Amino acid sequence: MAKIIAGISSSHVPAIGAAIDNKQTEEPYWKRVFSGFDKSKQWMAEAKPDVVIAIYNDHASAFSVELIPTFALGCAAEFPPADEGWGPRPVPVVKGHPALAAHIAQSVILDEFDLTIVNKMEVDHGLTVPMNLLFGQPKDAWPCPVIPLAVNVVMYPPPTGHRCYMLGKALRRAVESYPEDLKVVIFGTGGLSHQISGPRAGLINSKWDKSFLDNLSKDPKKLTRIPHLEYMREAGAEGIEMVMWLIMRGALDDKVDEVYRFYTVPASNTAVGHIILENARKASGTRKVAGKSKRGSAGKSRQAAARKSIHRIASKGTR
Ligand SMILES: [Fe+2]
Repeated sequence: MAKIIAGISSSHVPAIGAAIDNKQTEEPYWKRVFSGFDKSKQWMAEAKPDVVIAIYNDHASAFSVELIPTFALGCAAEFPPADEGWGPRPVPVVKGHPALAAHIAQSVILDEFDLTIVNKMEVDHGLTVPMNLLFGQPKDAWPCPVIPLAVNVVMYPPPTGHRCYMLGKALRRAVESYPEDLKVVIFGTGGLSHQISGPRAGLINSKWDKSFLDNLSKDPKKLTRIPHLEYMREAGAEGIEMVMWLIMRGALDDKVDEVYRFYTVPASNTAVGHIILENARKASGTRKVAGKSKRGSAGKSRQAAARKSIHRIASKGTR
């Protein structure tokens, strides 16, 4: 059975990607940022995930304003880096995991989350920058396949934090019903507080960011009740990206071990936040069994009913 072992949230500031590509990581300004991810790279190297599910948002690279899916799941075999105006970033092509992605699509859609299935997609800094921060800068290939899940946070209305949190739970049910033994790590990217235009451009609210990180770790349900207007007011217009972290958090146990946190300001014009949350290793088996009937039964019965319904439709069609 596949299993989500941990969730990692990370900012995806485009200037971080530029600093890597222009070999500026040792400059004092950037060293402060990159050194905060040294332990994270070490954690990733030890965890050795078989697959990463990366929750991120596209910045009008793969999807123009003509078509904006709320949740888009990358089911392709590979995802090339997008040209964001300066040519594609010199990073390896992201290899997907089409079999697990197709399974997630089936499970999550039958669980009543209507994902858009994407069979061809380029990925921008929203995905490649967290990959660099957590895996370094490999020349030829990333160390494991990645399933991208793009969330609309660029045009109103983005999904609510609660919807994102519940999608995380559906993703977990999907992963745990995949028969192959795979270690999965889920990324939630974006944020933290930032606003890139208008009279409040440059806004950073460290107090609010740190409270968000505290609650992400200990009381995520509290975060699911934050309305969009509060994100806008407290974290700036682009702070709404933080709802994506709630997808990651929803996919984890209610109680998690916070194994690492890093926060610094500024990086470009944003706050950089990063957290690693592990599902408890020892108790996970017990908790999983104990929680199975409570958490999974409604979703599973809906899936079973939906599958029966599809089977009936298919049978009718062949008669
Ligand atoms: Fe972004």
